[in-house]
Amino acid sequence: MSDNHDLFEYKGCNFISNIHTTEYLEELINTEIRDDDVIAVTYPKSGTVWMQQILTLIFSNGDLAAVQNKLPAERVPWVEVPTLCFLTLPSPRLAVSHLPYHLSPEGLKKTGKVIYIYRNPKDVVVSLYHFQNYITLLKTPSGFGEFLEMFIEGKVIYGSWFDHVQNWYAHRNEFNILFMCYEEMKLDLRTSVQKICKFLGKELDDEKLDTIVKHCTFEIMKVNPMANYENVESKSENGAFLRKGIIGDWKTHFTVAQSEMFDKLFEERMKDFPLKFIWDG
Ligand code: A3P
Repeated sequence: MSDNHDLFEYKGCNFISNIHTTEYLEELINTEIRDDDVIAVTYPKSGTVWMQQILTLIFSNGDLAAVQNKLPAERVPWVEVPTLCFLTLPSPRLAVSHLPYHLSPEGLKKTGKVIYIYRNPKDVVVSLYHFQNYITLLKTPSGFGEFLEMFIEGKVIYGSWFDHVQNWYAHRNEFNILFMCYEEMKLDLRTSVQKICKFLGKELDDEKLDTIVKHCTFEIMKVNPMANYENVESKSENGAFLRKGIIGDWKTHFTVAQSEMFDKLFEERMKDFPLKFIWDG
């Protein structure tokens, strides 16, 4: 059970009281999935907004108007947020989701495509900590140390990071799925976008590819008020959806003791997990 008053638990996962409903989550399990659905799945703060930008521009063939007039959530909504109306979008439906494996639509096992993006969890918890300090929807954490404990115990939005990544990976053979690493995207965005295009069966010439890559960099997205969700209700003027966008910001937040404790836990919990994590930029 979550200690956060802003969250409710549903089947072992924590959702946001003001935007999710159990009725809709129940409905989603059996919702019809279409052949051309593309869903980017992430644990929060692992590159969701980035994928909203990348998918939009790939499907608009690099037409920048597509990312200038509408919020990312209006073009590439969260599957599990009822007000964003994923179910009634025209095809091809592009969407993002933070749903854990066991709550995602069963139909995805038969058709559609999933792109799962994972990020090193030390940077994830730092990003989530700042996000909770920024966004009105979520409770302000009392301090980083306490928040880290909650993250480790899975008492934050969408529950345990460890379970999320491990379960999606363990069940990868049930889906048409591509795993992408946030840090690899950061280090070589061009190759990453090419990989995504190949998975989606999209061919783009070099010029279009260059345009997409340029407009998916942190620096360009940050100054696009749409991509940066500048109209979202916030508690502080110091935050942003697009905060720093770097690898290794955890080093300025974790104490040496917290880092050693986390490394030990990571080794235990992620033992035998084959995907590689990148901790330094
Ligand atoms: P930081 O808080 O570390 O800056 P999500 O979209 O899943 O909520 O993830 C948000 C994180 O992804 C933020 O991390 C944000 O800055 C980062 N991000 C978004 N777009 C990015 C980009 N183009 N390049 C690098 N990081 C990006």
